[in-house]
Amino acid sequence: MTRLPAPADAMTRLRATPVAVALIALLSAACETRELPPASVAGGAAAAPAEGTPAAAFVEAAWKPPTEAEIPNDSLGASIRRGLALLRFTPESLPQYAQSGLRCTSCHQNDGLKATAAPLTGSHARYPKYMPRAGAVVAMTDRINYCFTRSMAGRALPTDSREMEDLLAYMAWLSKGVPVGTNIAGAAGLIAMKDTLVGDSARGEAVFTRSCAVCHQADGSGNGPIPPLWGAKSYSIGASMSREERAASFIWHNMPQNNPGTLTPQEAFDVAAFVNSHPRPDSPGKEGDWPTGGAPKDVPYPTKGHTPTRTPARLLPRKPDGTIVPAPAPVGRGATPSAGYN
Ligand code: HEC
Ligand code: HEC
Repeated sequence: MTRLPAPADAMTRLRATPVAVALIALLSAACETRELPPASVAGGAAAAPAEGTPAAAFVEAAWKPPTEAEIPNDSLGASIRRGLALLRFTPESLPQYAQSGLRCTSCHQNDGLKATAAPLTGSHARYPKYMPRAGAVVAMTDRINYCFTRSMAGRALPTDSREMEDLLAYMAWLSKGVPVGTNIAGAAGLIAMKDTLVGDSARGEAVFTRSCAVCHQADGSGNGPIPPLWGAKSYSIGASMSREERAASFIWHNMPQNNPGTLTPQEAFDVAAFVNSHPRPDSPGKEGDWPTGGAPKDVPYPTKGHTPTRTPARLLPRKPDGTIVPAPAPVGRGATPSAGYN
């Protein structure tokens, strides 16, 4: 089998000779001719849509994410499938980047489809977007890397890697048909809890022993595909799940896995407080979150203008390369070029 040179290489080599330059000019001229809109070629406007006709309106209620069975059997389909496999088997596939006991699907349940578990459906259509925690406009690759470094307590995946492309291919697949800029349900992540209650860690311990320890183990370390809830292999303090209200929402809607919907909102806050009172990996650089202030009340570390009401008992140190991904540097006249943030 011969390997075709990458298109970029071929162009570079061709450009080297004057003949090639002429050839390229000829080719592009040919392309231009071929690309004339059919209406002009045919000399009539019948085939073209009438000017000003609005595109079919997007109806969220009628939209459904495409199913796994619909993934095409072509190169793009292969990339989408690899992206899905990375989501399901993150530490197994990317041991250098995801060293915790969590998979993307530990939180983004049902392959990112579950509405109550920070759904990834429609996500691709929401980026780039301004994120108050970062205080910057972030791209989807940055957002994915926030989960790698914070939720997975791992390392940022290089943004130009095959694996990142595959994750993006899967994300785009889950947003098929959603117009860019549309915020469908789930855009705010976990569903906000109606009542902002205050969790009681002692009461939470009783809930944990009764309803959670059977799977997550008495020491919270998890068991095979059942992820840990605290300790070195759990999510870091910089993860949304470290916030009491965010964790209470996830737990109230989705846990106990074998009997969801059986906890009262107060019990969910109590057990969230208990889980988050334990040691977990640190997120060096977290103090820079919400750089313009306005951190939500339950953020468990100090940020600009915010004093936390409770923090985990102890933070486990991280290697320097486990530092959270900084927000993209502002670009403007006179800005110093960024050194990259992988
Ligand atoms: C510990 C739980 C957890 C894990 C593990 C996790 N995430 Fe997340 N992720 C969240 C939560 C929670 C949110 C939403 C933030 C919120 O609700 O405040 C989120 C948000 C996202 C978003 C943004 C969604 C949107 O539309 O704005 C993307 C993309 C994402 N995660 C991808 C991933 C990928 C890829 C992985 C695996 C490498 C992963 N996450 C692992 C908890 C997790
Ligand atoms: C029947 C087993 C089972 C029980 C009981 C259970 N869980 Fe889970 N839990 C899981 C599994 C499995 C996942 C990973 C999600 C998945 O694979 O769908 C998970 C995920 C989680 C997560 C997000 C991922 C992580 O590890 O941070 C949290 C938080 C959580 N459970 C908390 C609880 C709490 C609190 C209780 C008790 C109220 C509980 N769970 C009861 C099986 C269980």
